[in-house]
Amino acid sequence: MAPRKIIIDTDPGQDDAVAILLALASPEEIDVLGITAVAGNVPLELTAKNARIVCELAGHTHVPVYAGCDRPLNRPLVTAEHVHGKTGLDGPVLPDPEMPLADGHAVDFIIDTLRAHEPGTVTLCPLGPLTNIASAFQKAPDIVDRVQEIVLMGGAYFEVGNITPAAEFNIYVDPVAADIVFKSGIHVVVIPLDVTHDALVTKHRNDAFRALDSKVGHAVAEMTDFFERFDIEKYGSEGAPLHDPCVTAYLIRPELFSGRHINVQIETQSELTMGMTVADWWRVTDHPPNAMFIGEIDADGFFALLTERLARL
Ligand code: RIB
Ligand code: CA
Repeated sequence: MAPRKIIIDTDPGQDDAVAILLALASPEEIDVLGITAVAGNVPLELTAKNARIVCELAGHTHVPVYAGCDRPLNRPLVTAEHVHGKTGLDGPVLPDPEMPLADGHAVDFIIDTLRAHEPGTVTLCPLGPLTNIASAFQKAPDIVDRVQEIVLMGGAYFEVGNITPAAEFNIYVDPVAADIVFKSGIHVVVIPLDVTHDALVTKHRNDAFRALDSKVGHAVAEMTDFFERFDIEKYGSEGAPLHDPCVTAYLIRPELFSGRHINVQIETQSELTMGMTVADWWRVTDHPPNAMFIGEIDADGFFALLTERLARL
């Protein structure tokens, strides 16, 4: 089967970095047409820099990296240095990128790419706030019907919020953008905290990354050593939740995941619950299903896949 053509929209972030590495290590299943950076975990200048650092770490400097939106559609930017560190990629010492940013704005790359490829053949994989995606849909409504699928990391139901009591970070940062995406009519696969909080990098799993004894293996282990502090302190978890790599793993082995096709709406009015993904998991309303909301992951299978693929880089 031909590899799936994707655009990764991202705010690296250590977990975004691992998601990008997993995609670049899997050319049989994934063809990364480009990477679009968005403001999120850290400001845009850093997410655009970090995305290039990761491409160079993987030895894939041919992948174009575009800078996108530097703030949400209608709210001030909220960042997460408390989780990811000042650089957004704290942990390993990695060289500044030599590869330049691709010319042009990320939103225009998304629009041009969707127009250039056959309808229904390009998947969008947002790993951060949905500002670039929603901006592309607003600027070029004709591309909405051309999107094959959106597979995103964001939201929560049973796990509720990680940035507020009610909301997960990616959705919280730009709830209006998320509302546009969830109302677009495109098939959206949602990988929420309910799943990613089961994808924990325990010591044993991180030792397996280190045991690869490669530049990539050591970098991923050191990113995780840094990134896990926040979740261990807040949740008492056994290690860092690898949020974004779950998106890439879903593209490669969807059978590692299970969920329900339900209605999901985004809170955009109340400051108290702003950015909450109101998931009708128990189907108590007659609102039409608009998302495949993933609820479970085979965590051992996920880490076996991730470690095997990282060994290729
Ligand atoms: O809430 C977790 C999400 O927010 C992840 O994508 C992480 O990288 C941050 O963007
Ligand atoms: Ca992210």
